[in-house]
Amino acid sequence: MELFEAIYRRRDVRDFGPDEIPRETLGIILDAAHHAGSVGFMQPWNFTIIRSQETQSTIADLVAEENNKAAGNYIGIEREKYLSLHLEAIRSAPVNIAVTCDSSRGGPHVAGRNTMPETDVYSTCCAIQNLWLAARAEGVGMCWVSLLDPERVKEILEIPPEITLVGYLCLGIPEYFEDRPHLEQQGWKTRTPLEEVVFYESWNQKATEPIQTVRENS
Ligand SMILES: Cc1cc2nc3c(=O)[nH]c(=O)nc-3n(C[C@H](O)[C@H](O)[C@H](O)COP(=O)(O)O)c2cc1C
Repeated sequence: MELFEAIYRRRDVRDFGPDEIPRETLGIILDAAHHAGSVGFMQPWNFTIIRSQETQSTIADLVAEENNKAAGNYIGIEREKYLSLHLEAIRSAPVNIAVTCDSSRGGPHVAGRNTMPETDVYSTCCAIQNLWLAARAEGVGMCWVSLLDPERVKEILEIPPEITLVGYLCLGIPEYFEDRPHLEQQGWKTRTPLEEVVFYESWNQKATEPIQTVRENS
């Protein structure tokens, strides 16, 4: 799949079919993640692959608990709408991956990280985005689940306290990929126009005419 096609057709996928992800496909996807850029070439990430249904189920229960708490942020019809959103796919995914960041990797002085120590986490997010796009190109769907208490998940996975859990990912083979984000289809949110988020020369100086894009956005 061509790069822009993968970018526009990538989706957060919450429904998976019964097929397993072939081991070599998972290898290709993980290697794409491992080729992301990282501050000072720090490569601060680790990928813990979780296939155990028991572990997945324990983590899915934690997510359900957090989701109920999150529902408390809404009232009335908004709450009903929130609760109808499909916000995780842990049990239905054959593979879960906990992506973590080790801030100590590379020693105390990592090139380029002096003033922005958080760039280790940013680097890990770059790896996750590579993983997401490579998965899409290979016909594998991914759902990023952040609706969880990272410390409780770390305990379950025996991740040391000093390591940061950045993303909990669910991967599987979807029957199809949606054209538009689930949250858009459910009437929860729409994509902000590009012109709203691009500034010229200084803060909030917006374009005076539409920005030309090379291709149709989805
Ligand atoms: C950092 C991050 C955290 C996310 N957490 C969740 C989550 O907890 N549950 C969920 O269903 N989707 C989660 N998503 C997916 C977003 O809802 C999704 O990316 C967004 O709605 C746009 O849809 P698309 O990815 O299909 O384009 C997360 C995405 C990111 C980047």
